[in-house]
Amino acid sequence: MTLLADRHGRTFPYLRLSLTEACNYRCSYCLPDGWRADGGPRFLDADEVRRLVSAFAGLGMWKIRLTGGEPSLRKDLTAIIATVAATPGVRKIALTTNGCRLSRHLPRWRAAGLTALNVSLDSLDRERFRAITGRDRHDDVLAGVDQALAMGFDAVKLNAVLLRGINDDELPRWLDWLRDRPLALRFIELMRTGDNGEYFERHHLGADVIEDRLRAAGWTPCPRAPDAGPAREYSHPDYAGRIGLIAPYSKDFCVGCNRLRVTARGDLRLCLFGDFGVPLRPLLREDGQRDELMQRIRALLGHKAAGHFLHEGKTGITPHLASVGG
Ligand code: GTP
Ligand code: 5AD
Ligand code: SF4
Repeated sequence: MTLLADRHGRTFPYLRLSLTEACNYRCSYCLPDGWRADGGPRFLDADEVRRLVSAFAGLGMWKIRLTGGEPSLRKDLTAIIATVAATPGVRKIALTTNGCRLSRHLPRWRAAGLTALNVSLDSLDRERFRAITGRDRHDDVLAGVDQALAMGFDAVKLNAVLLRGINDDELPRWLDWLRDRPLALRFIELMRTGDNGEYFERHHLGADVIEDRLRAAGWTPCPRAPDAGPAREYSHPDYAGRIGLIAPYSKDFCVGCNRLRVTARGDLRLCLFGDFGVPLRPLLREDGQRDELMQRIRALLGHKAAGHFLHEGKTGITPHLASVGG
């Protein structure tokens, strides 16, 4: 099946679907005061998710990433994974999670059809982790990651947001840890959002700092797969793990963008920053609306912008990433 494409020649093999805006962490760059319900519309229910995923799969999307907020806060997450897995055309189901509930649920999620995992872990130091996330769940996350590896998940990725003066001295410790762990650790440059401007000014650090240290230690760039995500990856013959750098402020970051997002309330977001969502919910009421929904998505994609404008010091309309699905 031909993949959806936009007017800039970019193709879209997958959907990033947020299942909730709620989160039980208080990451200092995202939800420092914790999440609070705003009284807005409820999040998509399992039937709406099923209809949505069916339409995107009908447009050639073979991978669905479930994200949030923290998707494991949804009591029906296992059922949703099973529903997505049962959708004809879907071959890969990935979950982006803060990891605190991994050990408890991983076997169930795996049995329901989960194939890949991205876990947030901003520090290997327990106390720093607590200071950044506001939660003392470091041990749970580490145990969950090792369990995922032991269960043979084909792709386990870790996300660490690079924070100047907070966790930017940890590379040697990470490297030790990655020596025997076949996972991909990605350093993400802090992104400026509507809410975190002052924090951003204090703690943003360009990923090139890490890149220089990696090259000096003998790490070399991996060849880039055609459907690769935003990370530039590095490997080293002595290490089982790889390291990726996600640098949204770097030149040409958006040229290869293959992302489409749907928020937890059913709005299509064509870019993490910049655009207002377009509500798809009116087309999620009955199974019979599938063709109309597919046509609508195809038409909306024509409006995807060439790139974000974070370089200009702007923030767009995204207050924090929990509201969009990082
Ligand atoms: P896969 O390719 O499906 O593995 O996804 P990924 O590598 O994007 O993984 P993940 O969902 O863990 O995303 C990692 C982080 O990269 C996100 O949380 C964002 O912080 C950042 N990111 C991902 N997509 C975009 C994007 O379109 N724009 C920007 N600016 N940042 C992004
Ligand atoms: N900048 C960069 N990364 C962020 N994340 C959340 N907010 C930001 C931000 N402002 C990360 C989380 C998680 C991933 C989904 O996105 O730490 O690892
Ligand atoms: Fe929660 Fe993720 Fe935001 Fe942290 S970054 S508060 S884990 S949504």
